[in-house]
Amino acid sequence: GGTTAKDELGNDVSVAKFLENRNAGDRNLVQGLKGDPTYIVVDSKEAIKDYGINAICTHLGCVVPWNVAENKFKCPCHGSQYDETGKVVRGPAPLSLALAHTKVNDDKIVLTP
Ligand code: FES
Repeated sequence: GGTTAKDELGNDVSVAKFLENRNAGDRNLVQGLKGDPTYIVVDSKEAIKDYGINAICTHLGCVVPWNVAENKFKCPCHGSQYDETGKVVRGPAPLSLALAHTKVNDDKIVLTP
């Protein structure tokens, strides 16, 4: 089961393709559960970590970009901030970013709640 991560064109995201396109910021975004933009996280060896971070701000739903310089997610709408694991560190967001379980299946990135 689970939802295969999709790119912006709706194609399944393979691990190879993801790593090829991966760079700073929004390039780590895929379409995850319910189509929500979701950050796929990799470790220092470029292995896909077992969780993804839903990019939808828990305040009023803006997409939250990663700020490389400050090493945190910063919401452009009302200034909420989240650390690299999605934990809220500054409001008005009431909750941390939602996480999705991530696994690799047949070279595809698969997300489950
Ligand atoms: Fe992100 Fe308001 S929607 S801070």
